[in-house]
Amino acid sequence: MNNQPKSVEATLLERRSIRRYEREPIPEADMQFIYEAIRNTPTSYNGQQFSVIDIDDQTVKEKLYEITGQKQIKTCNRFLVFCADYNKISLIAREKGIPMPQFFDTLDGYTVGAVDAALAMMSAVTAAESRGLGTCCVGYARTANPDAISTLLKLPPHVAVICGLAIGVPRELPDLKPKQSKDLLILHNEYSSDGMVERLADYDREITHYNATREGTKSTNDWAAHIIGYYNEAMNYTMLDAMAHRGFHIRK
Ligand SMILES: Cc1cc2nc3c(=O)[nH]c(=O)nc-3n(C[C@H](O)[C@H](O)[C@H](O)COP(=O)(O)O)c2cc1C
Repeated sequence: MNNQPKSVEATLLERRSIRRYEREPIPEADMQFIYEAIRNTPTSYNGQQFSVIDIDDQTVKEKLYEITGQKQIKTCNRFLVFCADYNKISLIAREKGIPMPQFFDTLDGYTVGAVDAALAMMSAVTAAESRGLGTCCVGYARTANPDAISTLLKLPPHVAVICGLAIGVPRELPDLKPKQSKDLLILHNEYSSDGMVERLADYDREITHYNATREGTKSTNDWAAHIIGYYNEAMNYTMLDAMAHRGFHIRK
C-alpha cells in the first residue's frame, strides 16, 4: 500500500476506516508527529482532561482483542486508548492543597473529558492519515467490558476509556463510505426538519446500494435499521454502573 504523505484535502476527504494492516512498524518520526498532534489538541479550559495509553505490546493487544472481538486491535501496529482523565488534576490539587470538586460526578464533567479525549483522537487520526497511515476508531474499547479493560490497563480512579484507535500501515483500501448530504448535516442559522425525511430516505437507499456493491464483504443492510439495531443492542450496556466503578458517580 502507498503510505506517502498526503495533502490536507486528501487527508480529510479520502479518510476511511482501515481494519487490515501490514505487519510493518510505524516510523518513529510519524509516531512522534502523532503525539505532538495529540498534545496540541484544543481542550476545555486548557484543562487537558484526557490521557492516552499507547499499546505496542502484542500480548496486551491480544488480550484487548479477546475482550472486544475487534480483529484490528491485534493486527494494527499501535493501539491508542483515549481516556477521560480527572486523575491528573486530582493529583496536583492534592499536592497544592486545593479542594477538588467532584466535577467528574456530573454529566458535564463526563462530557468535558469525553469531548477532550475524542478531539485528541481526531488529532491522532488526522496526523496518522496525513502520513499515509490507516486508522480505525474502536468504541468497543469503551463498551465491551469496561472493568476488564480498566484492570488490564491499570487505570486509576477518575480515568475512563472513551475510545480506542488502531493505527498501522494499510493493507486494504475500502471504498469511501457515502455520508449524509451537506444539507442534512449542515443547517444554516437555525434547525429545520423540512425536507429531511426525503433526503434521509435517499441516503438510506444510497447506503443500501453501497453495502450491496462495495469492495470486499457485501451486505443487504440499509442504514436506518442497521443503526437502530445498534442502538437496541447498546441500550443493554450498563455504562452508568461502569462509570461508577471508574469513580464517576454521575448524578443529578
Ligand atoms: C466513536 C467511534 C467508535 C467506533 N467504533 C468502532 C468499532 O468498535 N469497530 C469498528 O470496526 N469500527 C468502529 N468505528 C468506525 C466506524 O464504523 C466508521 O467510522 C463508520 O462506519 C464510517 O466509516 P468510515 O470511517 O470508513 O468513513 C467507530 C467510529 C467511531 C467514530
